[in-house]
Amino acid sequence: MKKYLVIGNPIDHSLSPKLHNYWIKKNNIEAVYDKQELKSHDLKDLIIKIRNKEINGINVTVPFKNEIISYLDELSYEADLTKSVNTIYLKNDKIVGHNTDTEGFELAIKNINYDISEKQIFIVGAGGVVSSIILALKKMKASKILLSNRTKNKAENLKKIFRDLKIIDWGKLPDFDVVINATSIGLDKNDELNIDFSKIKNGRLFYDVIYNPKQTNFIKNAKRLGNKTENGKKMFIYQAAAAFKIWHGIKPEIDDKINDLLDE
Ligand code: ATR
Repeated sequence: MKKYLVIGNPIDHSLSPKLHNYWIKKNNIEAVYDKQELKSHDLKDLIIKIRNKEINGINVTVPFKNEIISYLDELSYEADLTKSVNTIYLKNDKIVGHNTDTEGFELAIKNINYDISEKQIFIVGAGGVVSSIILALKKMKASKILLSNRTKNKAENLKKIFRDLKIIDWGKLPDFDVVINATSIGLDKNDELNIDFSKIKNGRLFYDVIYNPKQTNFIKNAKRLGNKTENGKKMFIYQAAAAFKIWHGIKPEIDDKINDLLDE
């Protein structure tokens, strides 16, 4: 029986096992997908298990997406550029790290038929997934990407990768077509991002990377002001589907049951 794993810390909240085990069963694959909470000093031994084929694939989540890179043999273009790995597999005896978050975000935006090209994008926050989102935005030909983060240093680190990123001082509000909440504000349903979006013309797209809760205050306020909204659920599903395809060679079907499965 093949074995797959999502690693992170914390990991309890992860919905990846539910999703992958649903697709594994549906496609009659002999495999199991588990979750494991670990610490930095556990990473080395875990990677040995991939080399020994005791584990066939790993998804990586917060806070190890960057740290895991030093244990891998090869990186895909996306993983290398974003310095973020969320999917690991063995190929020709080499341990390969890939980043399916980029594809996940791109497909989520395409799924709602939003055309990013020539749009001005404002990203709030600089958490682990932001480099993947910026790469996806660039692939979709965004005209300008602005980013603001409470800790400016993290924004500046991203600018080292993406030279044309424009950093906005925390608390300032630039004009935009799309705003993306990439902070952890909203994970608690009472959390409120301290930005007054009522000054911005309506009809913009407000995207929240958070999908649990379904409607953060960021999304609720955006709706109230007459904007289009989307949460991070589809990005999550598409990044998982891309990992599934890499490991099992099958593009899993994103059927209606998946919505219910993730809402339970
Ligand atoms: P991840 O766990 O996804 O990698 P992270 O690196 O912990 O996320 O980043 C969370 C993001 O939420 C960061 O941009 C963080 O800002 P800082 O870099 O200044 O820490 C942001 N964030 C979390 N709480 C915040 C708060 N109360 N006010 C402003 N930003 C906040």
